[in-house]
Amino acid sequence: MSAVRTLLLLPLGLLALQASLCHAACVEVDSDTEAEVDKGFKLGCISCKMRGEVPATASVDWSFKAKHEVEYTKIYSYENEVGEVLDWRFQDRLHWNGSKKTTDLQDGSIYMLNVTYNDTGIYKCTFTRKLTFSSSPAFHTTTIKNITINVVPGITRGMASILSEVMMYVSIIGLQFWLVVEMVYCYRKIAAAGEEALRESAAEYLAIASESKDNCAGVQVAE
Ligand SMILES: *[C@@H]1O[C@H](CO)[C@@H](O)[C@H](O)[C@H]1NC(C)=O
Ligand SMILES: *[C@@H]1O[C@H](CO)[C@@H](O)[C@H](O)[C@H]1NC(C)=O
Ligand SMILES: *[C@@H]1O[C@H](CO)[C@@H](O)[C@H](O)[C@H]1NC(C)=O
Repeated sequence: MSAVRTLLLLPLGLLALQASLCHAACVEVDSDTEAEVDKGFKLGCISCKMRGEVPATASVDWSFKAKHEVEYTKIYSYENEVGEVLDWRFQDRLHWNGSKKTTDLQDGSIYMLNVTYNDTGIYKCTFTRKLTFSSSPAFHTTTIKNITINVVPGITRGMASILSEVMMYVSIIGLQFWLVVEMVYCYRKIAAAGEEALRESAAEYLAIASESKDNCAGVQVAE
């Protein structure tokens, strides 16, 4: 089962490898939105720098609004390669998962440990970028992304994904079974046709043989 999965994932892996070899082009992938309770979860937030050649620095702030709250609360901030958790609810549970060893951030993702149902809500990721042009004053841009996170119980680990996997095996096995049935059917049909032909030719042979026997008899009689 796992071998099949590996085989299926191989092209994806190659694609990812190719993407990373192509000088790590920045792609703004949307974050997952379903977090499993008690597990870790990566809050993804990528903001690509539009002008790759312009030197820049960026800081990232994360805010959170729980399901029944009306206002956002700052929960995490990352600047100058230092991250800080700003809300007691997330104390020791948030870790930087974004761009490393640079202040020119493009990936502002964070990793949340031990997800609880209380983590359900909207997360706001804010990129504050300072672009430095040689000829003009620094230019500031702000990019905001909202991510709505739903916390789900562990078992429903995508019922859809389990179902589709089962359907995949059913269709593979079903197709092979059908192939075997078809082969047996064809083989028997061919065999039957062969037998029929054999019987026919045998009958013909017998007919000829008896005829020639008659002839022979005739010849014998004549002798
Ligand atoms: C997360 O859960 C594990 C296992 O239940 C526990 O050992 C760990 O201390 C928890 N970490 C945090 C930051 O709550
Ligand atoms: C994200 O952070 C978690 C927890 O610190 C770590 O286990 C994981 O490897 C990190 N992933 C990336 C891509 O940095
Ligand atoms: C979730 O929030 C409720 C109400 O604020 C609190 O009583 C409860 O202890 C929290 N649960 C967890 C796992 O933090």
